[in-house]
Amino acid sequence: MSTQLNTEHFWMPFSANRQFKSKPRLMVAAEGMHYTTDDGRKILDGTAGLWCVNAGHSHPKIVSAIQQQAAKMDFAPTFQMGHPLAFEAASALVSIAPPGLNRVFFCNDGSEGVDTALKIALAYHRVRGDSLRHRLIGRERGYHGVGFGGISVGGIAGNRKHFGPALPAVDHLRHPLNIQKNAFSRGLPEHGAEMADELEQRLLTLHDPATVAAVIVEPLQGSTGVILPPKGYLQKLRSICDKYGILLIFDEVITGFGRLGSAFAADYFDVVPDMIICAKGLTNAAVPMGAVIVKQEIHDAFMSAAPENAIEFFHGYTYSAHPLACAAAIATIDVYKEEKLFERAADHASYFADAAHSLKGLPFVKDIRNLGLVCGIELESAPGKPGSRAFDVFLKCFWEQGVLIRTTGDIIALSPPLVIEKPQIDQLFGAIAKVLKTQ
Ligand SMILES: Cc1ncc(COP(=O)(O)O)c(C=O)c1O
Repeated sequence: MSTQLNTEHFWMPFSANRQFKSKPRLMVAAEGMHYTTDDGRKILDGTAGLWCVNAGHSHPKIVSAIQQQAAKMDFAPTFQMGHPLAFEAASALVSIAPPGLNRVFFCNDGSEGVDTALKIALAYHRVRGDSLRHRLIGRERGYHGVGFGGISVGGIAGNRKHFGPALPAVDHLRHPLNIQKNAFSRGLPEHGAEMADELEQRLLTLHDPATVAAVIVEPLQGSTGVILPPKGYLQKLRSICDKYGILLIFDEVITGFGRLGSAFAADYFDVVPDMIICAKGLTNAAVPMGAVIVKQEIHDAFMSAAPENAIEFFHGYTYSAHPLACAAAIATIDVYKEEKLFERAADHASYFADAAHSLKGLPFVKDIRNLGLVCGIELESAPGKPGSRAFDVFLKCFWEQGVLIRTTGDIIALSPPLVIEKPQIDQLFGAIAKVLKTQ
């Protein structure tokens, strides 16, 4: 199929377009742990698509819910109108959210979720009369999608530099990755909790805590290569935010829905933020959807600040709580519960960790980081060609080993569907080991 396909019109996102189009890697079907390529090969999915297909591909229950809803009602607005599934989907999400987070604002993806959460944070302080709080704090190497809000609080130079000044009044914590001290630690790193202290000692001192609206972090930084929070780090962030009346936002677009063996990373770390942003696994990626789960008191501040019959929050998307997305979310959350997929991920985490760390000592492997069903394998970069070594491993895994991995710079990031079986864990790491041995 690839030989006849005209690939020139689709401008591919976050891709080396010319490289891809010179030899396209095309999937045409997916089921469970596997993709099927256009030339009929089965590919083991080591990345859950893009950190999103947590229940495995084309889950029959989710597929059927979407099909039935499409036939029943394609669309209904949620501006000044509603449909039952929107409310049911919000309740389903709240049923697995940490206690106290029980109001849900729907959007269409993680980037919109980030912008929504930042706007809620800024407006929350305003509606309470605390309009001095306008500053946002993100973190270096943080990925919060591609909206202007997200790239502003995000900390990836390449995602920011071409787009001019984005949001003003943003500052960044340093990221906690410290390979010298923590290389090859299994699970959470021992060293570095004090990195959280710079929020108080450096940023809040510099800016005046009374001007800061929110701190936003990924509990585990996924997209920039699986950066784990050192033991105690997130607890420290929480207590500093509490001390100064600053909202703490967890961007759980990757860590939500069982990736760490619990519904959210907030549960895993036992740190409750004021808002959780989620997307991806919310619908098992079958229909785009994002959400911000908010503490009730934040929501209530909006309700009590506006006159009755007035719109309380001037924000929303045409497709907020789209019926097909809601049907997919309800079915997906049911599947997570019925098949106990979060527990399953927790059960497999130690086997996954053993398999990951078995790569230690192979050529160019300089660090392995893991937690739950996530793993980052950092390689030494080839001189003068950053990213090329891992990309080469990615290509060989795909073409020669029938395994899909993801790379960012020279880091291999693995995040398989939570339904992965132990032999498939062996296959995934075995394939990478084979390829690394030939590097
Ligand atoms: C932590 C985090 N936030 C936000 C996003 C953006 O999500 P989307 O690509 O759905 O806009 C991502 C995407 O990977 C993410 O990992």
